[in-house]
Amino acid sequence: MSHLIGIDVGTSGTKAIAMTPAGKILAAASAGYPCQHPRPLWSEQDPEDWWQGTVKAVRAAMKGAGLKPGDVAAIGLSGQMHGSVFLDKEGRVIRPALLWNDQRTAAECEEIERRAGGRKALIKLVANPALTGFQAPKVLWLRNHEPRHFAKLAKVLLPKDEIRRRLTGDYATEVSDASGTLLLDVVKRQWSKPLLAKLELEADLLPRCVESEEVTGTLTPEAAKQLGLTTACKVVGGAGDCAAGAVGTGIVASGLMASSLGTSGVMFVHSDQPQFDPQGRLHTFCHAVRGKWHMMGVILSAGGSLSWFQDALCTVAAAGGKRKAVATFDQLVSEAAATPTGAEGLQFRPYLAGERTPHLDPHARGALVGLTLAHGRGHVVRAILEGVTYALRDSLALFEQLGVPVSGVRATGGGAKSPFWRQMQADIFGKKVFAMAADEGPAYGVALLAAVGAGEYKSIEEACKATVKTTEETKPDAKARKAYDEAFPKFHRLYPASRGSFPRS
Ligand code: XUL
Repeated sequence: MSHLIGIDVGTSGTKAIAMTPAGKILAAASAGYPCQHPRPLWSEQDPEDWWQGTVKAVRAAMKGAGLKPGDVAAIGLSGQMHGSVFLDKEGRVIRPALLWNDQRTAAECEEIERRAGGRKALIKLVANPALTGFQAPKVLWLRNHEPRHFAKLAKVLLPKDEIRRRLTGDYATEVSDASGTLLLDVVKRQWSKPLLAKLELEADLLPRCVESEEVTGTLTPEAAKQLGLTTACKVVGGAGDCAAGAVGTGIVASGLMASSLGTSGVMFVHSDQPQFDPQGRLHTFCHAVRGKWHMMGVILSAGGSLSWFQDALCTVAAAGGKRKAVATFDQLVSEAAATPTGAEGLQFRPYLAGERTPHLDPHARGALVGLTLAHGRGHVVRAILEGVTYALRDSLALFEQLGVPVSGVRATGGGAKSPFWRQMQADIFGKKVFAMAADEGPAYGVALLAAVGAGEYKSIEEACKATVKTTEETKPDAKARKAYDEAFPKFHRLYPASRGSFPRS
């Protein structure tokens, strides 16, 4: 009884892995679900889909690993950050959850900064400015726009913590994900009573908040039955997907950076003390490592830009009113690889869901600029990959301005599986890029946290040291690096050039 399960409640699906205490992944499984966009720049999901996805993925991982119910000691939970699950006092979901990339709350962000006494005062309380994706503005949006729903509100949970509630019946979260609510005093690692008071929100709307490796409960008989596990199985705090991904790539000490290319894109560094970007373009959150913090830059449409291209422009009608893709990601990426560096002057700005780092602009829009008759699908895909990687370089540049040391980049997320995209990262960042031996992303990180919670390791640092290994190293190519360095300022000119023409409501 010492195996571990890691669960990542993502935006495109839930993934589960089954792992030995030594960190060997025995099986991984995923179950997908849709995302609704009822208006441009709005994003919602049904928490019931996350639960069904969790049950399917865990059962499939258990089967793939050949494990018996009693073999699993603990579960670690990770998930998309910032989303808000609104629950009534009976624990019923009041309305679909608003997600991390939903941009409807610009007015509520202004309201929060005003109530806090300005942006600087807010950063003093919770280490970050009010950003549309964060959870607190979503709660205010419910109060301002759906007062009938707000009247029923008893608790608000983050996505992975809703799955915890379904697993154990507990209302709990942990410090890394709680940082992204905007209601946590990130320096003290506890809810900010002063900010809650200024926002006129009751403290008991929020769940209890623990450190990431702490055990929050054990499975209920009903959940154990559905998942094929036992009621002795513990559930640890876990982590938001960014901190979990960083644990899974061993970013638990200063000097290294993780780049993550999932639906969103993240550049992540560990920090022994809380460190701040005075303009709030980088987030300062608690790390999943006890008593440590991290900073990160986040772009909202990384792999999401490529998925959008595939879904919106590379599908044909199929049976049952559905659509099917005419090209796989691998095909699209190999077409991109056959075009020259710089996509013959075609540029892509990936702000398809607005943008956080570095612009903090919920109304920003994407763009494809410089099309000619000579451009084909491969050029467009190459421009998308280059645009996304330039957008991540913006975060790297901010870290460098703050004097944060970065000796190399550990690549994770779906995008890291492509050697072509890893080479592009090395060339655009001008850094060595490392692939990971176990590249199961956040699910791996929280399986390691579960191993700590189950007593297999003394600390997360010890767990990472024993298990996390890099494989391939990709060095920047001098010629490509020079070409990208010359093109980077042109990417920068794209946003201010059309900023004035984005709709602002
Ligand atoms: C992080 C963020 C995204 C989501 C996506 O701040 O918003 O990375 O967590 O899963």
